[in-house]
Amino acid sequence: MKVLAIESSCDDTSVAVVEDGRIIKSNLISSQLNIHQPHGGVVPELASRRHAEVIHILIRKALAEAECTFDDIDSIAVTYGPGLEGALLVGITAAKALSRTLNKPLIGVNHLHGHIYAHFLTTSPPEFPFIALIASGGHTQLVLMESHDSISLLGQTRDDAAGEAFDKVARVLGLPYPGGPHVEKAAQEGDPNAFKFPIAMKHDGLEFSFSGLKTAVMQTVKSMDTDALSLHDLCASFQHTVIKTLWYKTKLACEQHGVTRVALCGGVMANQTLQNEFKKEAESEAISIYNVPRVLCTDNAAMIGAAACLSNLTVRESNFYTTPQLKICT
Ligand code: KG4
Ligand code: ZN
Repeated sequence: MKVLAIESSCDDTSVAVVEDGRIIKSNLISSQLNIHQPHGGVVPELASRRHAEVIHILIRKALAEAECTFDDIDSIAVTYGPGLEGALLVGITAAKALSRTLNKPLIGVNHLHGHIYAHFLTTSPPEFPFIALIASGGHTQLVLMESHDSISLLGQTRDDAAGEAFDKVARVLGLPYPGGPHVEKAAQEGDPNAFKFPIAMKHDGLEFSFSGLKTAVMQTVKSMDTDALSLHDLCASFQHTVIKTLWYKTKLACEQHGVTRVALCGGVMANQTLQNEFKKEAESEAISIYNVPRVLCTDNAAMIGAAACLSNLTVRESNFYTTPQLKICT
């Protein structure tokens, strides 16, 4: 079964062709970085307009790269949320138009489920049950995946997402948007123990909080002489605290649910230091860590195609808007 998948929830337009939920035939991503970077963050209206400008071009190119035509496509998949309303609408409208004119089923996919299903595009996806740690620009969640029918939200952030904290800290330090890769690069030459920041909500089960950490970094910047402040040390210490926090809660989730497999999902998981730290810590706990290549960590349509084929928690209605009915993980 071949799915044409569309993702337009934030600032990347992506179209993919995925076969049987496991094989990427094409996965094109049009980045809007040059549009949003001067503003220091995503401007929703500009994002929607750019999606509308490029989506039809990407659809054509994705089919060509997959060496197929609309006739070879069995269904159309699209992200229905969560995300920027106007941006989502561009992808949903394109998907609905294709579904109606081609008379092919329309499958709505939750963006966060998509991030989890990126793992099924690798050669050795985690077996059920596994814990998915999703950390992106808008979300930080721990999810228990017991089967393609069963996804349970175990905990999430009460305020900022981990990626959002990277972006906000980068902004304070004068680094470009999106902050994650820039903070990671600066951190490479810094001492992760130069500044001590605590793990927030350590005793609050599987809930996260990152806004206090962001504020602590801001206060450190304000309180120090600019010449004496090491950008590298601050980035390394901040990043170290985010990683420590994510690992602490993930390990707790594994212990509480008797699970030994962890899938790292979402843009923040592109962080190489995080991947290395998780691997190192997990070894002594007999926990297996599953990663995906960088292009499948950040937003892409292939993951939406995989979820559309394999998950039983998709929306299979011929007509939907940005759908709120799937409560888990939204
Ligand atoms: O999943 P994603 O591509 O989009 C959303 O669904 O939000 O995640 C984007 C987020 C941004 O906040 C970005 O700063 C962060 O992922 N990110 C990183 C890295 N690469 C991207 N955070 C830390 N280290 C990175 N290397
Ligand atoms: Zn995402």
